[in-house]
Amino acid sequence: MNYDVADLSLASTGARRIDWAERRMPVLRSIRERFEKEQPLAGLTVGACLHVTAETANLMRVLRAGGAEVALCASNPLSTQDDVAAALVADGIPTFSIRGEDDDTYYRHIDAVLDMAPDITMDDGADLATLLHTQRTDLNPIGSTEETTTGVIRLRAMAADGTLRLPVVAVNDSDTKHLFDNRYGTGQSAMDGIIRATNMLMAGATVAVIGYGDCGRGVAMRAEGMGAKVVVVEVDPIRALAAAMDGHRVLTADDAARVADVVITVTGNKHVLRRQHFDQMKDGVVLANAGHFDVEIDLEVLGEMARDRRPVRNNLEEYELADGRRVLVVAEGRLVNLGAAEGHPADVMDMSFANQALAAEWLAQRAGQLEPGIYTLPVELDREVARIKLDSMGAGLEELTEEQKSYLAGWREGT
Ligand code: NAI
Repeated sequence: MNYDVADLSLASTGARRIDWAERRMPVLRSIRERFEKEQPLAGLTVGACLHVTAETANLMRVLRAGGAEVALCASNPLSTQDDVAAALVADGIPTFSIRGEDDDTYYRHIDAVLDMAPDITMDDGADLATLLHTQRTDLNPIGSTEETTTGVIRLRAMAADGTLRLPVVAVNDSDTKHLFDNRYGTGQSAMDGIIRATNMLMAGATVAVIGYGDCGRGVAMRAEGMGAKVVVVEVDPIRALAAAMDGHRVLTADDAARVADVVITVTGNKHVLRRQHFDQMKDGVVLANAGHFDVEIDLEVLGEMARDRRPVRNNLEEYELADGRRVLVVAEGRLVNLGAAEGHPADVMDMSFANQALAAEWLAQRAGQLEPGIYTLPVELDREVARIKLDSMGAGLEELTEEQKSYLAGWREGT
């Protein structure tokens, strides 16, 4: 079997972590039981480019239980859990990822997955899909799935200019994905990453969150819960207003830069923090990024502005500016929750990856029948994922009475 991981001797530690995650993924477990019986992916190869974590390992197991051959590479050079990668290889799953790999290795690993001519590709950030439209036009998969907001935006841009040649399921757009993974997953794990890297007390600190989408809202909520004074920066007036009414102070990035002790970017946009902001920041400010790509903080310019740079803790680098102020950057400006912590908890990846598994099945059932385009999974599947999750949490779900159903469906009563 072909593979490339850091150290196979880590496999038993990785296997323990995969098993622990599985215990907290009841929806995925129920899909696995059904897949074992029904074999919806029999004869297909699934090539995945996802963060190589214990939760992803469970998704790989489920796809294999459904009859697929699977191969996995990383969707970020800094998010791989090397013990998990080793455990996957020990379990017979071709895995290509090493934490901290350089750009050449990163793309070599993506190529290795594409070399297996996958029938379905799974992305977190559209790396496989992009290559399928540039260097690997020789391959013709049934379709692809996309995990994250930034990937969906890139794919929609391809669809808009008529380049997209595949059907793609935007898993991010399922409610049981973005309303939970992006909000509660990113909210908790981004704060977790910053705290692991700095061990700083959030109570009383001013935390600026740039971008108040699903993710930013979660980060702001958790920072506030820890006692931080939260400042939000937005370009969208509706979202800025929502932040204000959620109780946060809404400022421009310039004003936020002056008051913040911690700044977290989570916009999916480029150079959200740049020279004009670095110029105004307080000594000792901590910068972290939770958006998909490492382009949100202009680290090239920060490097040019620095007269010295040094690592001060694991995943924390200090830039000393010409005037003596120090700016601390967590996890090289890459996804802070994966670079400096363990990514989202399994409890929430349960729903995201349930949607991934269902998306693979949905594509397999429609092989050759779908036009190129961006698809969202049917709402019944979303509701089913939510139902199973609620059930596993011991929650009760009220049902409409027949009288209520007809009241809601009519208009005469009450007039
Ligand atoms: P979203 O589209 O819901 O929110 C992004 C927000 O940023 C929007 O409200 C937009 O108006 C705002 N924004 C854009 N440019 C801005 C600027 N220059 N200044 C201030 N605000 C700006 O997206 P979502 O779902 O919140 O995702 C954000 C990013 O996080 C994406 O890159 C996504 O792929 C990534 N993501 C990261 C995760 C993680 O594990 N860290 C998990 C899920 C998504």
